[in-house]
Amino acid sequence: MLASEIASQIAEHGKFGGVVPELASRHHLVYAPRLLERATRAAKIDLANVDAFAATSGPGLASSLMIGASIAKGLAIGFGKPYLAINHLEGHLLSPFFNGDFQIKPNISLIVSGGHTMSIQVGGLGDYRLIDRTVDDAAGEAFDKVAKMLGLGYPGGPEIEKHARSGDATRFDLPRSMLDSENFSFSGLKTAVRYLLPKLRGDFLADLCASFQQAIVDVLVRKTIATAKRYDVDLVTVSGGVSCNEELRRRLCDACDRERFEFKSAEPWLCTDNAAMIAFAASLRLDAGFKSKVTEEIDPNLALA
Ligand code: KG4
Ligand code: ZN
Repeated sequence: MLASEIASQIAEHGKFGGVVPELASRHHLVYAPRLLERATRAAKIDLANVDAFAATSGPGLASSLMIGASIAKGLAIGFGKPYLAINHLEGHLLSPFFNGDFQIKPNISLIVSGGHTMSIQVGGLGDYRLIDRTVDDAAGEAFDKVAKMLGLGYPGGPEIEKHARSGDATRFDLPRSMLDSENFSFSGLKTAVRYLLPKLRGDFLADLCASFQQAIVDVLVRKTIATAKRYDVDLVTVSGGVSCNEELRRRLCDACDRERFEFKSAEPWLCTDNAAMIAFAASLRLDAGFKSKVTEEIDPNLALA
């Protein structure tokens, strides 16, 4: 990797407690060209020497996806180079392989982000089969919504994790939904916190954060290990913003050790959204002979599998 630049919009959206689509697209319009300039300067490369141009084509906010894809398509056409439309979720899914031999071995992949929670059976690059997905809130969304109820900042995941460190995770008994059935569900957990809150007095923040985090981690770890056993793979991977969570990383790593699965996670800076993971996915796809048409449209609901 020669350069990785991020123009974070967290401070702007944080004032509103979540992402404001109109604000996001305006920011993309202003910052995407500046980022391109910053990245090429940091990498000390000339755009004319770039082998291919890639952008996220979905899933996500249409008005933001359109800006990135238009820039990448324009560059590809202008310099006569291939264009690659990359699925945002594939970017997450491949990110645990960024620091290795780049061989995408068969694995069970847990993607946990603000918009998605899913487990995927991965056969290799581009070979993905959906196993479980959330039927309501994504894990990150549950962190964000519960943080908001508790008056904590946005995004909620890091805030809850911070308070959870000094808390007693056994103090509040919160639900672990769909442990033994298909798919994931986190809205019951969120609602349980909502009903519990008005009854609480005194100092409860750290214990509630720890109990909530534990409930989510319990579900993710138990279901992922059960899936890995069922599909008879050697490797378990985890990616997406929630996989920054140290408790999740530690518990999943320990469970994999115990059950003799190899475990790979992305480095924390690669877990939350970034362009490097999209470039990485694009470079693997380019090497494997994939290309996209510049007429390929963005798709806000693009599926991975
Ligand atoms: O992958 P990501 O950056 O964006 C999406 O594709 O959605 O994930 C963002 C999500 C947010 O919901 C945020 O609260 C959560 O990841 N997150 C965390 C942590 N860091 C970020 N959740 C739990 N613990 C964390 N340390
Ligand atoms: Zn993401």
